Order: sequence, then C-alpha cells, then structure tokens
Amino acid sequence: MNSASDGTPAVYDRIGTGYRDIRRPDPRLHALITRALDGARSVVNVGAGAGSYEPVGAAVTAVDPSRVMLDQHPGAAKVKASADALPFPDGSFDAAMAVMTVHHWPDLRRGLGELRRVARRQVVFTWDPVFRPELWLIEEYLPEIREMEHARFTPLDVVAEALGAHTVLPFPIPHDFTDGFQIAYWRRPEAYLDPAVRLASSTFAQLPPAVVEAAAERLRGDLASGAWHRRHADLLGRSAVDYGYRLLVAGPAPTAGA
Ligand SMILES: C[S@@+](CC[C@H](N)C(=O)[O-])C[C@H]1O[C@@H](n2cnc3c(N)ncnc32)[C@H](O)[C@@H]1O
Repeated sequence: MNSASDGTPAVYDRIGTGYRDIRRPDPRLHALITRALDGARSVVNVGAGAGSYEPVGAAVTAVDPSRVMLDQHPGAAKVKASADALPFPDGSFDAAMAVMTVHHWPDLRRGLGELRRVARRQVVFTWDPVFRPELWLIEEYLPEIREMEHARFTPLDVVAEALGAHTVLPFPIPHDFTDGFQIAYWRRPEAYLDPAVRLASSTFAQLPPAVVEAAAERLRGDLASGAWHRRHADLLGRSAVDYGYRLLVAGPAPTAGA
C-alpha cells in the first residue's frame, strides 16, 4: 500500500523536503477548487502532499503514500495509503479531492473508483497531455519531458469518463502563478535555472541530471543573448495561458439535501 509501481512515493520521499517553499498554493486555483467542493464538511484529500488547496473550515483527512509528504502536512488526520486502496468504508466523506496526483497512481481507474466509493462528490485537478500549445521549455529545450509526461498523464476524456465527470472547468495558468509546478514559470524563464525550483517538480527530479543541466545551460545562453525574449515576445504581454489544466467535478453537490 505504500509504494506505487513506478516508485513515485519514493520519488516524493526524495523531492519532498523543501517542497512547501516552492509549491505555495495559488489563491485563484484554491478559490476554484473550494467552489467545486461546494460547502462539503468532510473531505478526503487523496495524494494530499503538504495539504495545498484544502477547503478552510472542513474536516479534512489527508491520504498520501509518501511519509515525507505527510510529515509536511499540517493536519491532524493523516493516513499513509495509496489511492487504489483507500482504507475507508463506502460513503465516508461529503467530497473527495485529488490535485495534481492522478498521474502518479498505479491504477487510475481503480483510484477514481475509490474516490467515487468513499465520497459523494469528486473534484480532480489534472493536465491533459493531448492539449496544445505545450510549454516552450519542452519544445525548445527538454523534449525528453514530452515522452515522460505522455507516459504518465492520461488523456482528459478518459479521466473524465472514468470519474463520471459532469463538469470540466479550464484553468488558464496566470503569469504569476504561485505553485511551482512545471508550467508555473511560462513567463518567468529565469526560474528554470534555479535548482531549488527544479527540485520541487517530479518531472525534473526523474530526468537524468546531465540532461536537465545541459538544457538549463542552453536556456541561460538564450536569456543572456536575448534570443529567448525575441522568440517569445508574444508571451510577455499575456496575463494567462491555457496549457490544458482542468478541474473535473463529479457527483451531486454536498449541500444538496444536506
Ligand atoms: C504533485 S504532488 C501534489 C500534492 C498536492 N495534492 C498538491 O496539490 O500540492 C503529487 C502527490 O501524489 C502523491 N502520490 C503518489 N502516488 C500516489 C498514490 N498511489 N496514491 C495517492 N497519492 C499518491 C505523492 O506522494 C505526492 O504527494
């Protein structure tokens, strides 16, 4: 129960330290998730990590297979478990949430089935690998990311169908997004030169360091010469870009009939 087939919890045990400094919950995404949870009083947060995006005022149970991540979670109710075998009876919670985690689960359908079994409403935030545009970092510097992300992320229509989602909400990434996952710095390219920023992302953490460092050196050169800014002048004037991040909502509103 405490190790996914791809060794992901071990990855998070490695990258988890210091995660909270870089992965600061973004207030705009928090507001979107809180609205989707719609007044749920009991919530299970699966793949909870350090507890980002949990609703204020609800009784939250955090689930994660990584001990290092759970140790960074501030809550009192914490359970070390994998999404595909949640140790709760049917219908235990008003809502289940899963934020940027379903791509790590060893059995996506089984995990989503578990969310549906233990809660009345389900709220899942993920990324659609089929969506375009993709981040310039992948196209121009680290195409290795594409193969890795396509292997672990499932196309959104498959996730939505397995979850029984009735609502799909786009979340264009703001230029000043505070949560340092890979896409966050689309308009702040210098950030990718910072090893601490890269360490907080499971994508970079799983690539060979020599590959990442060589790409960072090329980016450093393009920033110094102005080549990056010439190529991406259009991005510099934009406040948000849709890169395929979506919030999926399934199940009735917890407040309905409560
Ligand atoms: C990118 S982090 C997201 C954490 C948190 N939800 C957030 O938004 O900050 C992914 C999390 O999924 C967890 N995870 C990995 N494998 C899992 C599994 N089989 N079941 C549940 N969670 C898992 C990792 O340990 C990690 O905490």
